[in-house]
Amino acid sequence: MKLCMIGTGYVGLVSGVCFADLGNDVICVDNNLNKIKLLRKGKIPIYEPGLSELVVKNFKNKRLEFSTDLKKSVKNSDIIFICVGTPTTRGGSSADLSQVYKVAKEISYSINKFKIIITKSTVPVTTGDEIEKILSKNNNKKKFSVVSNPEFLREGEAIRDFIYPDRVVIGTSDKKTGRILKNLYNPLISKGASYLQTSRRAAELIKYASNAFLATKITFINEIANLCEKTGINVEDISIGMGLDKRIGSRFLRAGPAYGGSCFPKDTKAIISTADKFKTNLSVIKSVIKSNENRSKILLQRVYQILKRKIRNKKITFLGVTFKANTDDMRDSSSLKMIPWLSKKGAIIKYFDPTGYKNEFSKLKNVTNKTTIKEAVQGSDLVIIHTEWNDFKSINFKNLVKGKKFIIFDMRNIYSSTKVKDQGLKYYSVGK
Ligand code: UDX
Repeated sequence: MKLCMIGTGYVGLVSGVCFADLGNDVICVDNNLNKIKLLRKGKIPIYEPGLSELVVKNFKNKRLEFSTDLKKSVKNSDIIFICVGTPTTRGGSSADLSQVYKVAKEISYSINKFKIIITKSTVPVTTGDEIEKILSKNNNKKKFSVVSNPEFLREGEAIRDFIYPDRVVIGTSDKKTGRILKNLYNPLISKGASYLQTSRRAAELIKYASNAFLATKITFINEIANLCEKTGINVEDISIGMGLDKRIGSRFLRAGPAYGGSCFPKDTKAIISTADKFKTNLSVIKSVIKSNENRSKILLQRVYQILKRKIRNKKITFLGVTFKANTDDMRDSSSLKMIPWLSKKGAIIKYFDPTGYKNEFSKLKNVTNKTTIKEAVQGSDLVIIHTEWNDFKSINFKNLVKGKKFIIFDMRNIYSSTKVKDQGLKYYSVGK
């Protein structure tokens, strides 16, 4: 099939490359000429394991093209995926749909034969209806079909999530469109992915409801972890015990810092904003947002206690600053709250992240980036394991920095407390 992905951000690029790898002809379009030039050279603007190799392979095979010419690309394609950003509106909480509608308008001038127009970007309920209205201004309704096909890709695992999804959700009530899309996704369905065809509005809401539910699960276990700390219980036992109930499931029950990233914070706010529009109170999700916003304060409070209320001039190391492992993404990472707070309180902070220096901390006093774990840890009073990179999972701290004893605060529970204590180090974790 001839596919066109509009927007070469995370979603558009990963989906486009994977569709090309499944044997489709794909044009990835972006209005950023520089980005397109770099992509043609095989240079990837984001950090995603395995992506670069797939881009180079499929570009060489000529199944993958990059272009800035939206109209021509749309004309030459059968299926068009809208993959532009839907960030939170400035100063608000709803999704900013200006890019989606701008693209829809441009597409409306290029419908030369029947086209399927798909929103892959996360868009609020009824966005598909609006896109349909925009396209109808210049086209007969029989010439296009507007579909919602949300993505469920996790950063750092995006290629695998695309190839082996739990489910493919197609929101359309048009039979022909449903048939074409089932065929497009058949390679994934035949490998075991569930296929759900539903109404367009339902597909739009499935995405938000899924992310809000996962955010709820994390927040729930984080609050239970607080209780575990007060009652001498290991939260990991609770996660295992709960997870064995098939109705609950074991995933997304890892206690740790506040959830972050490009989706959960944005989507939980946006679903509430949609619900407000329809005069519905999503009180559970509202509490989740509040609790998550408070999470960094709770962990900082523990840092305060661990350091016996003396933060000024304490040397603190952050191992990992991104919102999770295998990504360079800093969006809504809890380190963005913790590091500035500690720096303000007079701590001297060093950080090491496998994805390197972060501009976000460039203006902060006494915050420096180190390029090795050893340099970052040397001379430290407290080492905070903030992100669960594999690089941090088997450090022999005792051998790494001889002499000086420091405290470890493992916010991701990646170490066994007895093993670290055996190295003669003080060790704190979350929910234990
Ligand atoms: C998420 C969704 O999983 C994906 O389906 C969606 O389309 C995009 O948003 P992503 O933001 O890449 O993906 O990361 P994810 O792995 O879901 O983690 C989100 C946040 O939750 C991270 O801050 C992570 O550290 C945290 N998390 C996750 C936990 O704290 N505990 C867990 O058990 C799982």
